[in-house]
Amino acid sequence: MPDAYILGIESSCDETAAAVVRSGEQVISNVVASQIATHQPYGGVVPELASREHLRAIVPVVRQALTKANQTYDSVDAIAVTQGPGLAGALLVGISYAKALAFALDKPLIAVNHLEGHIHAVLLEERQKGNHEVPFPVLALVVSGGHTHLYLAAQKGRGWTYENIGHTRDDAAGEAFDKVAKLLGLGYPGGPIVDRLASRGDPTAVKFPPAQIKHRDRRQHRGQKEVGSDRPRFDFSYSGIKTAVLRYVEIHDMHGSIEARRQAFANVSEPNLEDYVANCDKRTLDLVASFQRAMVEDLVDKTLAAARAYDVATLFVTGGVAANSELRSTFERDGAQEGLPVYFPSRPLSTDNAAMIAAAAYPKFLAKDFAATDFSAEASLTLR
Ligand code: KG4
Ligand code: ZN
Repeated sequence: MPDAYILGIESSCDETAAAVVRSGEQVISNVVASQIATHQPYGGVVPELASREHLRAIVPVVRQALTKANQTYDSVDAIAVTQGPGLAGALLVGISYAKALAFALDKPLIAVNHLEGHIHAVLLEERQKGNHEVPFPVLALVVSGGHTHLYLAAQKGRGWTYENIGHTRDDAAGEAFDKVAKLLGLGYPGGPIVDRLASRGDPTAVKFPPAQIKHRDRRQHRGQKEVGSDRPRFDFSYSGIKTAVLRYVEIHDMHGSIEARRQAFANVSEPNLEDYVANCDKRTLDLVASFQRAMVEDLVDKTLAAARAYDVATLFVTGGVAANSELRSTFERDGAQEGLPVYFPSRPLSTDNAAMIAAAAYPKFLAKDFAATDFSAEASLTLR
């Protein structure tokens, strides 16, 4: 089989990205245009602004990815694009452009699930390192701003299948990082800021109660079976910890110092770590460190419990939150204790990118699993 060069396009949230990947195993180019500066004043992603920014960025970003890869519109073998899940208007920009390119160039078009992309970021980089033999069964934790999902991933012929064995019942882990950072006047996106600040505080200072699974799952505890299923599930819940942080802020009357921090950062476009530290008292640093420790322990404990229950041979941890230093080191330490190899993407491929979309498209390219020209964005697309 000759090499296949796939142009990937990703526009599901607040990053416009394009990449060229060779045969699912080598990143030739990887361009990401971040919209952080656009959304920062609002403390979160504003969907309408995201679509507008994608419209502005998509053509130059794709051009740049082709140029850096020494490829042209004509030389690539296929075009892959994120179909969902994500923001409908944002997805549509990438999809419309990919469809137009595929039609005009008469190239195959491949629709990719964003979550499958995150899983294939790991496989891509393992292959790039020369590791073509990932031991199965594989359990993948996709942990990002929109998802905290556990999948058993299996290879069937040329394609892949996924079984969801757990997900968050409310907030995603990345969402909790972002909301807590916003609450503490630390800006957006919260994950990278909390990650860096946490090393300056005492992670044992504040105790958070273990996450409670709410509503219809009240009777269903960790690792229990769902009604009508003989497969144990491992669900997450992160809205409680956000409320616990808010309660802590109120009890300790931290609003004044939070407002002062907001004001201090209002005129600084890109505060560095020392700016943050200078504007945080010890109580805030301890709270940040304790919050991150609680998040990491919950993610690692539940994922490893799922890995044991399903007797998996390999664990993947991927998605934006997989960039977190403490999450990585804790998974590595605790995974090693259980003899479980844990694979992460490099940090640039943990957060949203298009290389992962082009990589996930490769098995579909081989199977000629091409998208019909009338396919559209699916904001709540599931993975199976
Ligand atoms: O995968 P991603 O780029 O986009 C989604 O698909 O959601 O993930 C973005 C999320 C954001 O919530 C961001 O705060 C979080 O990943 N994140 C982190 C870190 N870097 C990004 N969370 C914790 N620690 C980090 N270093
Ligand atoms: Zn993502």
